[in-house]
Amino acid sequence: MQLLKEKIRQEGKALSSEILKVDSFLNHQIDPELMQEIGQEFARRFTNDGITRILTIESSGIAPSVMAGLALGVPVVFARKRKSLTLQEDFYEAKVHSFTKQQTNTIVVSKAHLVATDKVLVIDDFLANGQAAEGLIDIVQQAEATLAGVGIVIEKSFQEGGDRLRRKGIRVESLASVAALAEGKVTFAGE
Ligand code: G4P
Ligand code: NA
Ligand code: NA
Repeated sequence: MQLLKEKIRQEGKALSSEILKVDSFLNHQIDPELMQEIGQEFARRFTNDGITRILTIESSGIAPSVMAGLALGVPVVFARKRKSLTLQEDFYEAKVHSFTKQQTNTIVVSKAHLVATDKVLVIDDFLANGQAAEGLIDIVQQAEATLAGVGIVIEKSFQEGGDRLRRKGIRVESLASVAALAEGKVTFAGE
């Protein structure tokens, strides 16, 4: 998605060879017009897939997901992060380990908001090692719903998450794919 790549070039900051900071439009401040374009792009890519619900994770997945939900005319559910594990019957839960933050969160989704007849589009802001996406997919499976695919705003293709999901036969649609980061420089896939 050209507009997104331009925004990343203009405002993204490669903090290291691993981390891209995009606080000015995605992770702290949000650019509503860009977010709407992002939502419409996800909707275009999944328009023929019979999506009934979008599933994301708080907090940075919510903005692009709401815009995609608006464009597709479907509700958006966000998994909540819980520190402690107090098993509750009315919730699906999965463990998500963050290599970046070196912590494990339990994520939960109420059984009321995800059902077996759903065709689910999973959306997140970043795809790095894929732990968040895999946790969300685990929850889709627990609900016995159908996974249509995964929509990602920024994939870091030099990390393993995207490949792991695709090897499992999961459709992954990334709007921008970052092949390499160096201090002050972002290289997109195919460049
Ligand atoms: P993974 O899910 O793909 O395995 O990623 P990882 O655990 O490494 O990511 C942990 C958090 O860091 C996630 O946000 C993820 O979106 C974010 N993240 C990963 N790589 C980058 C990056 O290069 N730049 C930025 N800006 N964020 C990155 P989170 O903890 O869920 O926080 P929130 O922002 O959604 O609240
Ligand atoms: Na995220
Ligand atoms: Na994030």
